[in-house]
Amino acid sequence: VCRGVLIRCYCKKTPTKLRVSRALSGADLGASVKVQGWVRSVRPQKANLFLHVNDGSSLQPLQVVASPELNDPLLTFGSAVEVTGILKKSPHKKQSVELEADQILVVGECDPVDFPFKIKERHGLEYIRQYPHLRCRTNAFSSLLRIRSEATTAIHSYFKENDFVQIHTPIITSNDCEGAGELFQVEPSGPEIVEDEYFFSVPTFLTVSGQLHLEVISGAFSRVYTFGPTFRAENSQSRRHLAEFYMVEAEISFTQSIEDLTKVMEDMFKSATEHVLAHCVEDVDLFHKHVTPGHRDTVDAMMKNTFPVITYTEAVDILNRSSEKFASPAGWGCDLKTEHEKYLVKHCGNIPVFVTDYPYDLKPFYARDNQDHPERTAAAVDLLVPGVGELCGGSLREERLDLLRARLEEAGLEDTYSWYLDLRRFGSVPHGGFGLGFERYLQCILGVDNIKDVIPFPRFSHSCLL
Ligand code: 4AD
Repeated sequence: VCRGVLIRCYCKKTPTKLRVSRALSGADLGASVKVQGWVRSVRPQKANLFLHVNDGSSLQPLQVVASPELNDPLLTFGSAVEVTGILKKSPHKKQSVELEADQILVVGECDPVDFPFKIKERHGLEYIRQYPHLRCRTNAFSSLLRIRSEATTAIHSYFKENDFVQIHTPIITSNDCEGAGELFQVEPSGPEIVEDEYFFSVPTFLTVSGQLHLEVISGAFSRVYTFGPTFRAENSQSRRHLAEFYMVEAEISFTQSIEDLTKVMEDMFKSATEHVLAHCVEDVDLFHKHVTPGHRDTVDAMMKNTFPVITYTEAVDILNRSSEKFASPAGWGCDLKTEHEKYLVKHCGNIPVFVTDYPYDLKPFYARDNQDHPERTAAAVDLLVPGVGELCGGSLREERLDLLRARLEEAGLEDTYSWYLDLRRFGSVPHGGFGLGFERYLQCILGVDNIKDVIPFPRFSHSCLL
């Protein structure tokens, strides 16, 4: 009694809200808990009702055991539930923990007839791709999303551990870094539009690469990186192109040679992959055992071996000497096609391979001139990987003012890039960098054939669902 008012004391503790992954860890045995998630299976039996509930935090669902009286016709595959009960040690072999429920609340019904995924059926990636708004409910896609998240963390950790500073490069830009003309133009659509006037007073685009902005900052910070959305208006329906994808880009000042770049690319690839293999064991296994069986051997070989390095000229020689019938014959001065890249990877033992020193004319204005003869090459490098082909593209940048100015003048771009020339006038240093396509990286480590299956919401020509 407090100041004449009776305060009622509740001894019963409010159940603690737990994620399924935490509940499965066994750290809370005996605790009164509440788990919220979606039903993965319902098995009513005479003595008990068994449910599997998941909430995206792990591949393995939490087994719920309840009295048959708690069964509800609305408790179907896909319905959303809130289960309250006590976490117990499970007597069953397949799991160590189960939730003994005293209350099951159906929060959201799910029509089992119309729901596109069926209990116990293994749906292929192509099938689930038709349902971008629902596919995160499947095991394969939920595993993919957890792996994607963990790989993102691993890449950031790699850069942090290696003294890189993360830079948020802009999405809207007035430059076409790659000069390939694959730009999405940005203009407002609302009432603020003024006829015949650009919103930013100049034409602007969604970024195709953060490289030039990174070069600005590397001119004061030495080691920088960015990891963000990148856009290419590629009219391609291929298995490795998207209109919106994520790119990891690094820029390093005071480089001595192309090996300074290949070392970072290889280290980053291996460090991120090691992290994913160690932290997403069940999710990666689901891919390597069921979705893309046999791919684990390829991943192990990539991790064990040092990536070989060949020049573009050697690559063209290898292609010309092979007995393979290519749809496009390889020739010095021509871009390597996907079929060539895949062949080169196989030729090198089905492990990633660096190809360096591409023809000067094939590379954008920023690539460093090797000043070699008779074939003029640039200090550029691509990393080609199993199943995908090109994963990374990079180069040393032309740091010499006179050579860069001449190349920009030749292309009529010296005014557009006067600020870029300034970087060479004020404390220019040898530097270089690269970009890695994050979705292609996921394809490579998981063995996934189609890039649309490794991004939550794929955007490609003629398709922008949701
Ligand atoms: O080779 P790219 O075009 O290089 C650049 O953009 C450089 N400016 C990067 C740099 O040096 N900072 O693109 C880099 C990588 C490619 O190797 C590929 O993995 C990926 O980005 N990529 C795509 N991924 C998915 N869909 C597309 N349309 C892609 N275009 C490039």
